[in-house]
Amino acid sequence: MMVKVIFVDHTGLRRETEGAEGSNVMRVAVDNNVPGIDGDCGGMCACATCHITVDAAWADKTGERSELEESMLTFLPDVSPAARLGCQIKLTPELDGLTVHLPIEQF
Ligand code: FES
Repeated sequence: MMVKVIFVDHTGLRRETEGAEGSNVMRVAVDNNVPGIDGDCGGMCACATCHITVDAAWADKTGERSELEESMLTFLPDVSPAARLGCQIKLTPELDGLTVHLPIEQF
């Protein structure tokens, strides 16, 4: 199944994308040339250039940060409680329509 993921940048611009079930939020952004997600480490939870903020409406469905993810996010300035690493959010049918917000820039 294809899962819809909507990326909203800091200006409010929305980009609707689709990724295969089992893929992840970073991968779908990179594959669809969504600016603002670099994914430098290829999804290994080792770079934090896939930092996004989960829309409040989806917070319950995306689950919790892993310990490793948590420690990567501590390197970033101004991290929201809803911040996640996109590569650590796996696309499932329940996440169809997932909306995430992009930071002004990645560090
Ligand atoms: S792509 Fe590097 S931490 Fe997500």
